[in-house]
Amino acid sequence: MRDEARGPQPGKIRIFHLSDIHFGLEDPAALEWARQCIVNEVPHAVVVTGDLTMRARHREYIAAIEWINALDAPVTVNIGNHDMPYFNLVERFVAPYRRYRAIHAMLETEIDLPGVAIVPLKSAARAQWRLNWSKGWITRSALDETLERIDALPQGTQIIVSVHHPLVETGTKGTALTRGGARALEELARRKVLAVLSGHVHDPFDLIEETAVGPVRMIGAGTLSRRLRSTPPSFNEIAIADGTITVEARNLSHVATPDMQIDDVPENALPPRNADEPVSAVATIPIVDPPVH
Ligand SMILES: [Fe+2]
Ligand SMILES: [Fe+2]
Repeated sequence: MRDEARGPQPGKIRIFHLSDIHFGLEDPAALEWARQCIVNEVPHAVVVTGDLTMRARHREYIAAIEWINALDAPVTVNIGNHDMPYFNLVERFVAPYRRYRAIHAMLETEIDLPGVAIVPLKSAARAQWRLNWSKGWITRSALDETLERIDALPQGTQIIVSVHHPLVETGTKGTALTRGGARALEELARRKVLAVLSGHVHDPFDLIEETAVGPVRMIGAGTLSRRLRSTPPSFNEIAIADGTITVEARNLSHVATPDMQIDDVPENALPPRNADEPVSAVATIPIVDPPVH
């Protein structure tokens, strides 16, 4: 039994960072294991960094909402690119968050813990002036909203930011994973946030990104869906004590955390098909993605 299985230790904050559950293509065994871990270990908070559903269908939302509502922990959920209504363009533009009504209180909400605050940042845009809507976009107003929240926190608060898309702009000529990501990262570095938690790429990582005003820690969670990239289903256990943050990429396959983590952020969330794409040491790359029905 894990030594902390009976609940939190004093002075230490434990956050379970889940991502990309993709209800509709979830991994039932992995999801049930994650739920049991939450029940048994009682983390201070659960952060779900987006892509709750596969196609934003009503039945996928119902399953997602039921699962999240049953968790006995403070939860914050980021909206992912898969959570925008695909099949109803009017709804996508007019009321993209409507399907989330039942968990509205958890949607991109701040969680305040002793000495630590989890502050959300929006990255999923309902429409963009480019064809690929799966990419992230940190708008000026979304960034301002997050920065205002951070600036309102008491001095000395350790800040964790949660967002769906990793805040890197790896590509050029408009192929950036997250438009506005570099600007956002720099503002967060200026405020000395402890880490930025994200999802979207379906493999875990724990990287330091340099900016003009200093480094930022970027922590990515893997997926709890069957839409695997190069690692088995996993979630991150994040522990914060005395200003230090440690990350464990927990998984049912007993793969060690360093082998789970990729050493660079890929440009998309698709299984790697080219030799130069970053993969984890386990590299369990599916030949095809499972079909969505
Ligand atoms: Fe995803
Ligand atoms: Fe995504």
